[in-house]
This record gives sequence, C-alpha cells and structure tokens, in this order.
Amino acid sequence: MKTTIRVGTPEQVKGTTLIVTVGVTRRVPDSVKRLDRLSGGAIGRLLRSGDFTGKCGQVATLHPVKGPRRLVLVGLGEKKEISGSVLRRAAAAGCKVVTAAGTGRLSVFVPPEFRGDVAADEVARVVTEGAGQGAWRFREYKGNDSDAVELSALSILARPAERRTMQEGAKRGEAVAEGQSFARNLQALPGNVCTPSYLGDVASDVAKEYGFKATVMDPARIKRNGMRALLAVASGSDHESRFIVLEYRGAKNGGPICLVGKGITFDTGGISLKPALNMEQMKYDMSGAAAVLGTFVAIGRLKPKCNVVGIIPAAENMPSGTATKPGDIVESHLGKTIEIVNTDAEGRLVLCDALSYARRFKPSCVLDAATLTGAVVIALGYHATAVLGNDDDLVNEVISAGDLAGERCWQLPLWDEYSEQIKSDVADIKNVGGRSAGTITAACFLAEFAEDYPWAHLDIAGTAQVESDAPHLAKGPAGTGVRLFTQFVLGRAAG
Ligand code: BES
Ligand code: MN
Ligand code: ZN
Repeated sequence: MKTTIRVGTPEQVKGTTLIVTVGVTRRVPDSVKRLDRLSGGAIGRLLRSGDFTGKCGQVATLHPVKGPRRLVLVGLGEKKEISGSVLRRAAAAGCKVVTAAGTGRLSVFVPPEFRGDVAADEVARVVTEGAGQGAWRFREYKGNDSDAVELSALSILARPAERRTMQEGAKRGEAVAEGQSFARNLQALPGNVCTPSYLGDVASDVAKEYGFKATVMDPARIKRNGMRALLAVASGSDHESRFIVLEYRGAKNGGPICLVGKGITFDTGGISLKPALNMEQMKYDMSGAAAVLGTFVAIGRLKPKCNVVGIIPAAENMPSGTATKPGDIVESHLGKTIEIVNTDAEGRLVLCDALSYARRFKPSCVLDAATLTGAVVIALGYHATAVLGNDDDLVNEVISAGDLAGERCWQLPLWDEYSEQIKSDVADIKNVGGRSAGTITAACFLAEFAEDYPWAHLDIAGTAQVESDAPHLAKGPAGTGVRLFTQFVLGRAAG
C-alpha cells in the first residue's frame, strides 16, 4: 500500500473513487459544497432524504455524472463523539466496501467540520491504519472467485498548511498497517503450516529484513536454559518447540521494553482435551506471538529511539503418550515448582519461563499479550482486552496507549486474595485456580514470575479474533496488540 498526501479539495478528484467521511447531519458541510454542486446536488438530496444519516458504520455509494467516478460516503456518528478511533473505523469501513468491489486506488477526504479534536497528523495516521485494516483479506488458500483487490494506492486530501504533518502521520500509519496485516496473515495460517519452527523462521526473516538480532532456540537449548515449563507443554507434540528472542537497538542506553507473546500454534488442551466444537479456532492461540512479530515489523520501519526485546515461547499443545499429565510437577526456569493440574492451562506455563528469562535484559518494563483465558470473554466480551499488572502507572500507560491506538483495555484487579486459589498441596504453585475469576488467577500465576520489573499482562482471548463480520473489520484474525504495542513503544521513545 502506497499512501500519498495530496493537496487538494474533493471536487478536484476526477474519474476515481473518493471516500468522504460524514458525521450525523442533514446539511452538506461547507467543505463539500462544491463537490455537491458538481455532482448535481446528489449529496444534499441523499442527506435530506434520510437514507443516509451519517450514523457510525453507514456506507452509501453515489455515481455522480461529474467529478469522482464513485463517491462513497461513510458515517462517523454524532459530531461530539468523533475521535481517532471513529475516523479509523470509518476509513476501514469505506476501504472494505471499495476494495471488495474491485477498486484498489482511492482518495479519502475527511472534512475539517468532522474531525473533532483530532489533529491533522492523527487524521492521516488513523485513516491510513484504517484503510489497511479495511482492505486486508486472506486469500492464500482460495481460488480466484472474488472481485476483491488489494489496496494499491491511497491518497489523503489535505490543505496546503497541513501537508507536512499529515505526511508524518501517514508514514507512521503505513508502518502500523503493515505490522497489523503481517500479524493477521500469521494468525490466519492453519496449525499445520504455522508450527513453532515456522514462527522461528518468520522471526529470523523479520530480523534479517530490518537488522534485528534474532535468537531461535531449539528444544536442546531450551532445556539447557532450564525452561522446563515450556518443554512440558511441548512434550505431547511431534513439532519441536522454539524459544524466540528478537532484539532491536534504537538507543545507546536504557533498559529495553520487553514484549512477550504467547506462541501456542495449536491448543488442543493436551490430555485435558478441549471439546471438538470450535476447536479449529485454537490455531489463533499464537496471536500474542503474532502481535509481537507485527510490532517488530512496524518498529523496523519506524526505527524509534529506544530499545525493544521481543520474546516468544512457541509450542504446540497436543495429547499423546509423551504428553504431560494432570498432576505432573515441573520445575520452571525461575526455580519454582509447578503442579500442572490442567494441561489446557498451558499458556501461563510457556509464558512463565519467558517472563523469568526476560530479567536478563534488565527491562524497563515487560508487556505480554496472550490469548490466555476463555474467562476474559465472560468478563468483557469481545470489545476490550483485559489488562492486569504489578504497577498501576504502567497499567495506565498501557490503557492510554490503547486509547490512542484504538485498542481498548480494561483493568482487572490483581489483589493478593486471589493468589490463594493457585496454592498447591504438593508444589510451590499450581497452574489453575478454579472456576471463579479465571482471568485474574491466570494473571496471578504470571505475577509469580514477573517479580523484578514493572509488568503488565494483556489477555487478548476476546479481542484477537473477530467472531462475525463488522463494517470496519472482517471476520477472523484482528492483529490485536500491534497498534497498542507500537503506540506504547513510540510513546516511550518520545520520552
Ligand atoms: N487458549 C486458551 C484460552 C482461549 C479460550 C482462547 C477461548 C481463546 C478462546 C487457553 O489455553 C485455555 O485453554 N485456557 C483455559 C484455562 C483453564 C483450563 C483454567 C480456559 O480458559 O478454559
Ligand atoms: Mn489451553
Ligand atoms: Zn491456550
């Protein structure tokens, strides 16, 4: 996708597709009046008719005799509610419709009347991100039975004074969009293709392309490092586990931000086998890993002035004669012993070794993203990522980054009382805490291994993938975490 900022007004767009975002109104905004006149008053008639009210997610297509070949109006909702997230969604909804219909070159105009408090560079950033999001499709395993095309050229209309700043925003938006699409493509791959070693290869490729340091450990090296909780999860699978570390150096000094991603390439539950219904969706259990890799793509393009380490413990969770059994006890990398009561609570086992391994980098903070619990869907549904951590300032920083990135987070408490639930009779700790507060007790488990640094955990089990098609987001993998992580990293780099 190539984004350009073009100085111009909407009535100057001729012969191509133009997307115009419009808040709830019955009147043509001033900045669109000349376009309306050129199109024979079609916009005004549409708004007055009530067929298109400008409510959020609404899309209407006009084919004016003069001006753009195709004019797509996208609703923004109430004027006072307009934000970066709203503009991102609108751009995504418009691009989704347009690219599905076979158009890969388009212009976007966001009328100044409908920008709320969003500054020009932000407008360009979120429109670019949204366009990439709306245009994304996964057709790797499909024949040519669709009209859909790639988004090849996006141009955003600007006034002369805002061209520079919008260019900056678009540059950042492009990098983030590419990272997010990269993550979604990885998520979409089936478990027989995207194995732990495949994730290792992808990490090496990303490192080569952008000049990161990559370390991909095989099981022997993982064992030498004492990461036996990770190995316990992998022990039922014929696919070898991998422990992946990516290092980006953008500053001379300063402890790195550590980003940890759960990389279970398929989660059958192991001996504590999951029911068959919807089990195919457990190919998405590497979404945390995809978020980290996608973020590194964005970082590779933007080169922020800070240090970032990515850590991905990757394994496949399978039942077999060599698999871990309920009741088995393993010693973790940190040294604490774990009673594995339920082999389906495998995410926290691979993550705990990654969290204690992270200490060696003397991180300024550690963030992890994981499709960790079904319970988070019960608590928050599909519209928020749960965030928990051992440092409220860091948690708040994550929530703010999420707001700016259009990835909403909601904090759950990590009070001591909950840790009672993961006490074991025979080992230092057990890996499940019963039915109540499942997302919290999972985080309590992780907290036992994230002792020496500020840490926040993102449970993305409800947000990593979309259940049903929405105007701005196709059903399937969402690349959740990439925008938030990138925003967080850039925020830290800016000081
Ligand atoms: N990968 C799952 C969590 C999950 C569930 C993600 C549904 C997406 C959708 C995780 O490994 C898991 O199985 N968690 C168990 C934990 C339980 C055994 C304590 C769960 O949530 O049921
Ligand atoms: Mn599981
Ligand atoms: Zn899992």
